[in-house]
Amino acid sequence: MTTTGQQPTARSTVGRSVERIEGTAKVTGAARYAFEVPAEGALYGWLVTSTVASGRITAINHTRALADPEVVAVLDHTTAPRLAEVGDTELQIMQSDQVRFHGQVIAVVVAGSPEAAREAAGRIDVTYEQRTHTVVLDGQSPDVYVPELVNGLNEPAVTEDGDVDREFGNSAVVVDGEYTTPPEHTAPLEPHAALARWDGGDLLLYYSDQGPYTTAEMLAPLLGIPRERVRVVAEHIGGGFGSKFVPRALPVAAALAARIVGRPVKAALTRQQMFALNGHRSETRQRVRLGADRDGRLRALEHTALMHTSRSMEFVENTATSSRMMYSSAAQRTLHRVGRLDIPTPSFMRTPGHAPGMFGLETAMDELAVRLGIDPIELRRRNQPDVDATNGLPFSSHGLLECLRVGAQRFGWTDRAPYRRGRWLIGSGVAASTHPDYTFPAKATVRIDDDGRISARVAGSDIGTGARTALTQLVAEEFGLPVSQVDVRIGDSAFGVAPPAGGSAGTSSWSWPLLTAARQIRERIEAAGGAIPVGGLEVAADSTDDLAKRPSLARHTFGAQFAEVWVHADTGEVRVERLYGTFAAGRIINARTARSQLLGGMVMGVGMALTEIGELDREFGDFANHDLASYHIPSNADVRDLRADWIDEVDDQLNPAGVKGIGEVGIVGTAAAIGNAIHHATGVRLRRLPFRIEDVR
Ligand code: MOS
Repeated sequence: MTTTGQQPTARSTVGRSVERIEGTAKVTGAARYAFEVPAEGALYGWLVTSTVASGRITAINHTRALADPEVVAVLDHTTAPRLAEVGDTELQIMQSDQVRFHGQVIAVVVAGSPEAAREAAGRIDVTYEQRTHTVVLDGQSPDVYVPELVNGLNEPAVTEDGDVDREFGNSAVVVDGEYTTPPEHTAPLEPHAALARWDGGDLLLYYSDQGPYTTAEMLAPLLGIPRERVRVVAEHIGGGFGSKFVPRALPVAAALAARIVGRPVKAALTRQQMFALNGHRSETRQRVRLGADRDGRLRALEHTALMHTSRSMEFVENTATSSRMMYSSAAQRTLHRVGRLDIPTPSFMRTPGHAPGMFGLETAMDELAVRLGIDPIELRRRNQPDVDATNGLPFSSHGLLECLRVGAQRFGWTDRAPYRRGRWLIGSGVAASTHPDYTFPAKATVRIDDDGRISARVAGSDIGTGARTALTQLVAEEFGLPVSQVDVRIGDSAFGVAPPAGGSAGTSSWSWPLLTAARQIRERIEAAGGAIPVGGLEVAADSTDDLAKRPSLARHTFGAQFAEVWVHADTGEVRVERLYGTFAAGRIINARTARSQLLGGMVMGVGMALTEIGELDREFGDFANHDLASYHIPSNADVRDLRADWIDEVDDQLNPAGVKGIGEVGIVGTAAAIGNAIHHATGVRLRRLPFRIEDVR
């Protein structure tokens, strides 16, 4: 007999640095990713993609592909099973002869080996009737419009509060700038991979997926089968960055192919295909206007943004939404517009909206500080809001000023005069960071066995964040047990409703029902005098009702990014010598994996600042640089003294775990901090990402 409910903190690992539970399995190859799941008799699918950006398939001939006896089937729009109309053109593959973008899935070859499928894919003969395409955004085009909503949680595309024009008229100083950010791509190490297996009318899909439960919810109606007949398993995932947040063509292709051949089918994207078939971050063209008094107090704030979407579907990067809540201002206006292009529909990429939008706002804030001769930290202090202007709600906690204060100390902000060392011009910059704290309803089951061991199930996923380890620590803490006594299983849609790993909402959402169920078990055993019932005890919990009872408050993570840059006086080369981030994110569950999340976000911010750009080629109608040799992400030599820390923030208005989101906030503000430091070092103000040598000189 084991007793539980000892002092919960006695052996708690919460807050400490804990190794990833699956760390050894991952580095030894024991951890199985979707493509590696054994499947007897499996065939291999290879995606055939369009070579025109817009048009119609007039003929598609499989004869030469089928000549290889290893090739079992070819699916195209004439032979693929019909899918239901679900309003998602990225999922509805091979349903018509229409080509909407270069790289669209037009056929799937199924063969006995990936090599045979790939070779045969090259022998599919396709002719097209080509239409003219447009892949370059033109703000004057009739294809540009103001949508109703931006992506995310029903936030309007347009807001206006107060008399903006009058307040600009009353402002002693107005900063007015145009800021642009390019299309950007996610680059998870593990390309999207799927193994689909039908058993009668039941689909079992192993998929590298941020959201197994939500994927099952989306695929069931598409495939015209009841929800309970789809199960999605995603045990290990090699990165997602938003590209695996919602399913797109690949899992559908695998499911359709498996249904046609009556055998399991494995399929994966190539690195090159990922650039068209995963979504990408839209480019943004922003205008930020700030009107202020001489003492720096904002009177008017206006943030407008133009993005692209695809011809067939609307995705509106929420570029200006953080400007609605960051600072206090007498009047504010935000506006999003989108233009339709003949390209794949953009999608969620790490910190959608906030990452590009805060580049605009935080650069403009620096410009205002310089113009007024006010320290940029002091300027932000003077504009600290009392409430979230988006909804008038008070903040559950607001750590920005503390992050700026502590971050400034760690960085050594006070003696920040620019200086020169040899041919290097050295300067420093700061920017604020923020991300909303979302928590979504979830279900979980916790069980205690006779021997006192705890097991738990929740349909979350660990895309590399350390979520599995954090959840295990939290459950272990609830029982006062070491993590080795607790087994938390995730990554299976059969475990019940749960949000995807996205929106930095995973740990807060998934831990809620886990902790509720764990507490109920603990209390029942305590009530029984510490005895575990024979056969153990299992409790399921659902956070829906508790979440609905939570008071209405504005919940946000904040942070401050400090950068020191060295700019070469002759070449214009920019080196980010130091980048320090300080964050306020509620309770930190695992110091090691939390720091990695924040650092990883900051490295993405370095990429945003200096290297990342998806180059849309006008003639070819696609991203010209669709691999990691030509789409540049920072490497070790680009990342020098990089540090992430946090302040102790206790916020009991969040969720039972007391956590805020940490997955995405690290990227926000980084590019602006680097740009502001470049200005400090050189006097050159950069408003276009990525910063390039020719812009600095
Ligand atoms: Mo995401 S864009 O991985 O929340």
